[in-house]
Amino acid sequence: MTGISSGWRAAVTERVVLVGFMCSGKSTVGRLLADSLGWEFIDFDDAIERAQDQKIADIFREQGEAAFRAMERKLTEELESRRQVVLAPGGGWVTQVDLTHRLQANGLTVWLRVQPHTVYERHRQQEGVERPLLDVENPLEAIESILATRIALYGQADALVDTDGRQPQDLAAEIAEMVDRERS
Ligand code: S3P
Repeated sequence: MTGISSGWRAAVTERVVLVGFMCSGKSTVGRLLADSLGWEFIDFDDAIERAQDQKIADIFREQGEAAFRAMERKLTEELESRRQVVLAPGGGWVTQVDLTHRLQANGLTVWLRVQPHTVYERHRQQEGVERPLLDVENPLEAIESILATRIALYGQADALVDTDGRQPQDLAAEIAEMVDRERS
């Protein structure tokens, strides 16, 4: 683990927010982490799909990206007071910078960093998940250029974990240790 920010946090960590690019493992790691902490797990994309009764790709197609970002904002506001929870927002959630800062106030925000070629391979192999921003002629180019615009935003997290070549269980255990340290 590499600490990358020393921003103020409450003495007792009551929430973990996993940020990171598409296919960085936020949902898989988040679920395992929540299990090991005995906390609730909330995947933003799943929650938005349920609330809208529509797949993310259809929301993008029919209502547009701005509408989707407004849904992410509303969900963040709804979850702001939730305690003992692991949150996994979508990869673009960090672009609304104030949201990261709001949830950082009494939680630990962890950046699951992933290299562009890993995103490309995982996305190619993952069936059943449509990612509208990667549904383009040259996905690797899209991954690299979108990632370049977001690196500094992910970098505002409290901690950074590199995920390439590592198992989700191992990552979840590392983050659970961070939480234990923060809470002890
Ligand atoms: C997005 C990431 C996706 C989903 C939407 C937009 C993004 O979530 O929210 O397709 O802007 O990076 P994942 O990071 O879970 O793939």
